[in-house]
Amino acid sequence: MKYNYIIAIDGPAGSGKSTIARLVAKMLGILYIDSGAMYRAMTLYMIENHLLNTTQKLLQKHLNKIKITFINKKNKQLIFLNNKNVTNEIRSSKVTMCVSKVSAIGVVRKELVKRQKKLGQHNSIIMDGRDIGTTVFKNANLKIYLTASAYIRAKRRKLDLKKISEKANIKDLVTQIQNRDNYDSSRAISPLSKAQDAIVIDSSNLSIEEVLEKIIFFLPTTDSMSI
Ligand code: DC
Repeated sequence: MKYNYIIAIDGPAGSGKSTIARLVAKMLGILYIDSGAMYRAMTLYMIENHLLNTTQKLLQKHLNKIKITFINKKNKQLIFLNNKNVTNEIRSSKVTMCVSKVSAIGVVRKELVKRQKKLGQHNSIIMDGRDIGTTVFKNANLKIYLTASAYIRAKRRKLDLKKISEKANIKDLVTQIQNRDNYDSSRAISPLSKAQDAIVIDSSNLSIEEVLEKIIFFLPTTDSMSI
């Protein structure tokens, strides 16, 4: 019998979760899902449809109209919202400014957690986010909590913004990151927090390779993935 192997990576914005998760997925040949991209796609849908200030009851009616698709192409994961490629747009400041608020809405979380759990039913998967080890996959085989200082994360965000031709200064980015951390950690439903059984890695002074090395240490051998 084959069982699905689940790895959960949680941590604050910019701690390097996506980069690391993508590499681990490639190494193990398993699926990678960026759950933050799902919240971002949902946010974009709400911005475009003027739903940011609507009631949860009305919002609920829209949820089944929102199709989010992940397509893996070479080393990049593309995100489609109702068949439109929104890979870059969901990283824009417009979406980043609203996503914390959207991800604190009960019906949004319920819907996305349901979709995330479904993905793990039939696939070995590595998923990154804020509540993967605490809510989505409480029984994950491996849980990592990846963190880094706000300053280092702001520097990384500046580089990401440059890729989509947006400019920002570090001081503003540090403030934005700290605000988002506070918001994500203090919301009522599934706040950002470390699962009790998660392994903590601080990536502030580590290269990508060094973080990977630490994670590899905790991975089982390929053989122990099947029973
Ligand atoms: O990882 P990210 O910055 O792309 O995430 C965008 C937002 O979505 C972030 O403010 C927190 C939220 N999020 C969440 O609440 N739960 C998740 N599992 C993933 C992201």
